[in-house]
Amino acid sequence: MKIAIIGGTGSQGLNLGKRFAIAGEDVIIGSRKEEKALMKVEETLEELKDYENISMVGMANEVAAEEGEILILTVPLSAQKSTLQTIKDHVGDKIIMDATVPLETAIGGSPARFIDLMEGSAAERTAKILKNTDAKVIAAFNNVSNSLLENIPEPIDSDCLIAGNDNEAKKVAIELIEKIPGIECIDCGKLEKARMIEKITPLLIGLNIKYKSHYGGLRITGIKKE
Ligand SMILES: NC(=O)c1ccc[n+]([C@@H]2O[C@H](COP(=O)([O-])OP(=O)(O)OC[C@H]3O[C@@H](n4cnc5c(N)ncnc54)[C@H](OP(=O)(O)O)[C@@H]3O)[C@@H](O)[C@H]2O)c1
Repeated sequence: MKIAIIGGTGSQGLNLGKRFAIAGEDVIIGSRKEEKALMKVEETLEELKDYENISMVGMANEVAAEEGEILILTVPLSAQKSTLQTIKDHVGDKIIMDATVPLETAIGGSPARFIDLMEGSAAERTAKILKNTDAKVIAAFNNVSNSLLENIPEPIDSDCLIAGNDNEAKKVAIELIEKIPGIECIDCGKLEKARMIEKITPLLIGLNIKYKSHYGGLRITGIKKE
């Protein structure tokens, strides 16, 4: 699967890109600036040189959105709208997994606090911005910390809670996400469940700060998935 990571030069996007490339997927790292994407990819290919068949290329976000079969959005809340505006003509009916968390940092506050959005959640905001497309928006990776992702080759000790309105799209997303060792994906239901999923992240960040850790994660127990 060709995965395009929009805003893939940051810590969350690039580390997801590394994990998917190691899992054998074709990864496109997107950036506002093609040169920045190319530079990050060059560094990453050097870092992953002991792995066989790593497939990773860098492109401008718009080209990445066009080329990718499935999209992942990893930009800060403050960049969410402007980034989606630049790619919306290229999204079509693709799945777009949105990792955006509405942290208070967007308005100069604490990473351990949440800000309420008019749309209910960042993922619903993405769906609203893309409303004239057939994009299938899924909230995903909001609770998976980049410290866990970058701790290669250790498996990720965290579940990935997802939410979205299209069941077929979620099946595709789950199959893909679970290629990352250790991650178990939990389908929480319709997209509006992102309101709760996104709120867990500032709680985890606060716990990491309080207990001086980088690896705080989340496991849902006692659920028997079909
Ligand atoms: N970091 C984590 O542990 C973590 C965990 C769960 C969820 N998340 C969520 O994932 C998203 C990305 O997190 P991150 O830590 O990777 O963010 P980041 O490093 O701050 O930013 C990611 C990329 O977004 C682009 N960007 C930054 N500011 C921008 C602006 N003003 N306008 C347009 N593009 C801008 C940049 O790409 P270019 O300059 O290349 O365009 C940057 O490399 C956030 O919404 C965060 O809440 C993060």
